[in-house]
Amino acid sequence: MTSNFIIQLLFTISILLSIANANKTVFIDPNDCWQIFEGWGTMLSWWTNGIGGFPNDYKNLLADLAFDPEKGLGLNVIRFVIPGGDNPTHHHIRPEGNVPGYWPCSTCNFNFSADEHQRWALFASLKRGANIFEANSASPPYWMTKSNCSSGSVDGTSDNLDPSYYDAFAKYLAEVVNWYKIQGINFRTISPFNEPSAGWWKAFGYQEGCHFICSTMNTIIKKVADNLIAKGLTNTSISIADEYSIDQEVFTINCIDSTTKSYVSQYNVHGYGGSQRTELYNITKKDGKKLWMSEYGLPTTSDMSASITLSEQILNDMRNMKTNAWVYLQAIQDVGYQIISSDDNDTLAAYSAKDQKLVIVCTNKGAAQFWNFNVNMFNISNITAFRTSDNNETLTPLSKIPPINKGSLVYLHPSDSITTWVFDATLNF
Ligand SMILES: *[C@@H]1O[C@H](CO)[C@@H](O)[C@H](O)[C@H]1NC(C)=O
Ligand SMILES: *[C@@H]1O[C@H](CO)[C@@H](O)[C@H](O)[C@H]1NC(C)=O
Ligand SMILES: *[C@@H]1O[C@H](CO)[C@@H](O)[C@H](O)[C@H]1NC(C)=O
Ligand SMILES: *[C@@H]1O[C@H](CO)[C@@H](O)[C@H](O)[C@H]1NC(C)=O
Ligand SMILES: *[C@@H]1O[C@H](CO)[C@@H](O)[C@H](O)[C@H]1NC(C)=O
Ligand SMILES: *[C@@H]1O[C@H](CO)[C@@H](O)[C@H](O)[C@H]1NC(C)=O
Ligand SMILES: *[C@@H]1O[C@H](CO)[C@@H](O)[C@H](O)[C@H]1NC(C)=O
Ligand SMILES: *[C@@H]1O[C@H](CO)[C@@H](O)[C@H](O)[C@H]1NC(C)=O
Ligand SMILES: *[C@@H]1O[C@H](CO)[C@@H](O)[C@H](O)[C@H]1NC(C)=O
Repeated sequence: MTSNFIIQLLFTISILLSIANANKTVFIDPNDCWQIFEGWGTMLSWWTNGIGGFPNDYKNLLADLAFDPEKGLGLNVIRFVIPGGDNPTHHHIRPEGNVPGYWPCSTCNFNFSADEHQRWALFASLKRGANIFEANSASPPYWMTKSNCSSGSVDGTSDNLDPSYYDAFAKYLAEVVNWYKIQGINFRTISPFNEPSAGWWKAFGYQEGCHFICSTMNTIIKKVADNLIAKGLTNTSISIADEYSIDQEVFTINCIDSTTKSYVSQYNVHGYGGSQRTELYNITKKDGKKLWMSEYGLPTTSDMSASITLSEQILNDMRNMKTNAWVYLQAIQDVGYQIISSDDNDTLAAYSAKDQKLVIVCTNKGAAQFWNFNVNMFNISNITAFRTSDNNETLTPLSKIPPINKGSLVYLHPSDSITTWVFDATLNF
């Protein structure tokens, strides 16, 4: 006991001498409740199409790792891409993105044998507990477009959907939602556009995409809603606009008229740029919608930089934009957690009254630093912690958990690392 104490003290002193950062104090406040978090998600489409030809055992293993809450990440929010399908004479879409559409030509029947790999993954996720499904479209079928190509218009900055096919496109989306409903998948939302204001969806590109100006978006949203209602699909509402940046999302939402907004239940935004998180949160709240961070992806790196960037992005979105769900582009857990306030930008806190668990995720970007967690609003009976760092740790359980002293836990947070705390906790009031 005594010698342990001395070793720790020596260790502490040596660290103290080597770090310049001031200590920080973080107060976790369960009285200040933010959003209810619905879950973590992934988009199907390319990666599931890419693994399509693999042996079944291997596919099941990957599905377990992605969707099973016991054996893997337990991703429960699923974004399913309704493929447009490209011109059969074209060969420019990258192989795993070349997903065939369900309506191959204007005079063809619907073909629901298409897209078997993504469909397999969709049902694999349902079987493992996924419970929130969204369908989304990146491009109409090529034959509805002006360029005769599902990767975009010739210039990339003008609409590619031919106005004479507005009704056909809306019907296409509703038919697919309806078919999957009969198969047992309830799409809660359908998102008709993907980065519609971007200027990079050009003909002969490497993935499906389609530019829509805002007045067209207003028209299409109403037509999709009419088609859903006509089919009795009142359980499916519309989400918009999956813009590439937060600021562009704010701009697009501001040009959607109020009648159109009445068909929309959710705003989706991608995390590739922009800073107007508070504006977007405010509009979402004023309009009474859900807000999803619906797409973000990063190239992986061998050091911690990608993990730190990812963690910071998640923190920033959840704290300042208060998103209800967070979806990583191509393949973290527990639904029903209420995000609660902490007075530190590098800390995210969530509490589940049902499970009596408090989870705190903190990201230390920079030098090692003492963190002082003030958790005196909680009665804590057990603590576990996991760390990811450059020092070969990937959610590695901490072998030494600091004690709670007078409601505070003092932790020396190593440089460039992410620590997740799980407390068995009840509220102390
Ligand atoms: C920082 O926290 C450590 C550990 O509790 C403590 O020993 C040290 O005195 C603190 N430093 C400052 C500047 O408050
Ligand atoms: C339907 O799609 C499947 C799978 O892509 C394909 O093998 C089949 O030929 C298609 N059927 C028709 C009638 O086009
Ligand atoms: C679009 O491409 C298809 C398939 O190559 C072709 O049959 C059709 O004539 C083209 N349409 C136009 C308007 O060029
Ligand atoms: C609506 O969807 C939910 C799941 O999202 C499902 O539990 C419910 O049965 C659906 N209701 C109808 C009328 O389809
Ligand atoms: C968001 O709303 C809050 C509360 O109404 C207000 O104080 C704040 O100025 C708004 N921020 C932005 C950027 O719109
Ligand atoms: C925390 O983030 C908010 C929103 O980005 C910012 O206004 C504030 O200055 C940040 N606080 C600190 C201490 O960095
Ligand atoms: C704290 O929780 C323990 C059991 O987990 C219980 O025995 C104790 O009464 C609680 N204390 C307060 C102040 O709620
Ligand atoms: C604390 O929680 C861990 C992880 O759930 C568990 O293994 C351990 O037995 C718990 N300890 C106590 C004292 O409840
Ligand atoms: C991480 O583990 C690898 C393989 O076990 C080892 O070669 C490397 O030296 C370790 N790096 C550190 C920083 O401990």
